[in-house]
Amino acid sequence: MVTPFATLILDVADQIATLTINRPDKLNALNRVVIDELGQAFAHLETRDEVRAVILTGAGRAFVAGADIGEIAEAAGTAAGLQGVAAHGSAVFTRIERFAKPVIAAVNGFALGGGFELALACHVRLASTQAKFGLPEARLGLIPGYGGTQRLPRLIGQGRALQMILTGDQVDAETAVRLGIANEVVAHDMLPEAARSLAKAMLRNGPLALAHAIAAVTGGAALPLDAALALESEHFGAVGRTADMREGTTAFLEKRAPTFRGA
Ligand code: COA
Repeated sequence: MVTPFATLILDVADQIATLTINRPDKLNALNRVVIDELGQAFAHLETRDEVRAVILTGAGRAFVAGADIGEIAEAAGTAAGLQGVAAHGSAVFTRIERFAKPVIAAVNGFALGGGFELALACHVRLASTQAKFGLPEARLGLIPGYGGTQRLPRLIGQGRALQMILTGDQVDAETAVRLGIANEVVAHDMLPEAARSLAKAMLRNGPLALAHAIAAVTGGAALPLDAALALESEHFGAVGRTADMREGTTAFLEKRAPTFRGA
């Protein structure tokens, strides 16, 4: 296990990096150090070609119970205020969303406020039976500031998102699946295995196809349909020029399994 971070544990095995937010005594609340280290960790993982997927999870009974409320209260009193805090966190989360390899949130417990927003920035969410999702910011006189007001309505629709944002109510794992927040609910003890097995299913496919698919989906989400379809065509054209595409189609025609090389 390699961990050059103070608040994260990084473990790489079988081409899958597991990044565990490790501040369990504070329910993994996102202070400045955690946010900075998440940014550094994803920058580091981007350069490691042998890492082809990332699982993000939390140590102990929480995924992440939100932004560190003590730091938020402190920053609100400074001249720069909270806008800079939000912009900094949002930039890190956007980096995660645009990461060129699949990022799976394995939500093992509370995913509240910034923790829910972090899960929303991941490409796929798996929920353990102990997961709880919520945006309680309004209860603190705040609003979500790390993308929650934008990513949640895009994922589940404006009415449902506003209900969660305006009430601050939490939903359990089953409800999260019904709303489309989480893809699946799995027994708590099975969560790490389920996340690895999902990552492995993705890794059977070519890394360039995965990267272009993520870029088309995440890049197109904010665009008008015509522009988004043009973006999809660009990515379709780009994968069409790869050796992996030739290998995938040739293997199909030759009735054999493909060997993708990421080129
Ligand atoms: N920021 C800072 N510290 C936090 C935190 C946060 N977002 N969430 C939890 N903690 C800390 C608690 O202060 C407590 O620290 P202490 O032991 O030093 O007092 C520790 O984590 C354990 O939390 P606790 O509240 O005792 O656990 P609980 O089981 O009673 O309640 C929650 C769990 C998640 C319901 C509760 O911690 C909570 O409401 N957290 C804040 C959620 C939130 O509003 N997030 C959005 C922030 S913008």
